[in-house]
Amino acid sequence: MEADIAMDMLEEIRVIINANLESLIEEQKAIFGEVAEVSGNVLLAGGKRLRPIVTYLVYQMAGGDDIDAILPLAMAFELIHTATLVHDDINDNSSVRRGKPTMHSMVGQSKAIIGGDWLFVQGFGLGGIYNEDVVKVMADCCAKIASAEFMQIDHVLNLATSPEDYLEIVKGKTAGPFAAAAKGAAMVADLGSSESNKLFEFGMELGIAFQLVDDLLDVVGDERIGKPRGIDVYEGKMTLPLIHALTILHGDEREELESIITNFDDSKFERLIQLLEIGGSINYSEILVNNHLERASQYLENFDDCDAKSLLQFVVSMVKNRNS
Ligand code: IPE
Ligand code: IPE
Ligand code: MG
Ligand code: MG
Repeated sequence: MEADIAMDMLEEIRVIINANLESLIEEQKAIFGEVAEVSGNVLLAGGKRLRPIVTYLVYQMAGGDDIDAILPLAMAFELIHTATLVHDDINDNSSVRRGKPTMHSMVGQSKAIIGGDWLFVQGFGLGGIYNEDVVKVMADCCAKIASAEFMQIDHVLNLATSPEDYLEIVKGKTAGPFAAAAKGAAMVADLGSSESNKLFEFGMELGIAFQLVDDLLDVVGDERIGKPRGIDVYEGKMTLPLIHALTILHGDEREELESIITNFDDSKFERLIQLLEIGGSINYSEILVNNHLERASQYLENFDDCDAKSLLQFVVSMVKNRNS
């Protein structure tokens, strides 16, 4: 499918999702007031809507043809995702999200914690209309986000963090929700468990690549991404480029890298990038991105050709080239 046609078709889905999210917030504001308003502000501040898009496209590729039957699940995953962002921004001390001030910087941490909870609960309210098995997929994914976030906190500035630790964190906090969204959508379309599980793996591979790219953008990205660069390093997050460089570099360079990571400030950014280049660590992460996207793409191959499948393949290719 031509890229501009694919972009237009994805935009159409985004418009539907946004319209539904907007009316949800309008309704909820009338009932819940400020908490719905501030939570709605971050929900509606933009965002690529990748999780609901994946939910909707997988449902269609799996043979589903009733948009009203899948929209609540698609929205649920966006609400849950936004909830994690609100909490993540508190923990990461981030002041900008989706190009706007974060919730905690507007209303303070106490309210932002509750605003994040409010978004979670709204997500579960929508997802709760499905059968028990779908709800379980959603609940498992949320529980794993929490355990992965705990693990991430425990690994802050832990220079012995292994690539396996990193992968476990990434699967829990980011890839798991993509996997659950894809599997849940397949289940709503009545696909059997073997195929639903393949779509779970599709989401997992896509999500791993997505987070790898996000972590790369933290070191090589620019302001178009809607959040400042270097935040992960400031926060002591052990992302793959850093983990890789720590294992590759030796002697003075390794010592220097260690000192930059543990006492990071903006003046050290350029040297950090140089050391990552010397270690081949950016290149290494990029190769892994390609491998995971290749696997994601293979999981789609067994499905019959259709627009939804082509669009999912397009989403896979987009993850590699994204700059926002
Ligand atoms: C940001 O996700 C958090 C990560 C998992 C890296 P997105 O980059 O999908 O954020 P939005 O929804 O487009 O704002
Ligand atoms: C992803 O982690 C956040 C969640 C999945 C909760 P990051 O900390 O890398 O996300 P950004 O970079 O702040 O968007
Ligand atoms: Mg963050
Ligand atoms: Mg990040």
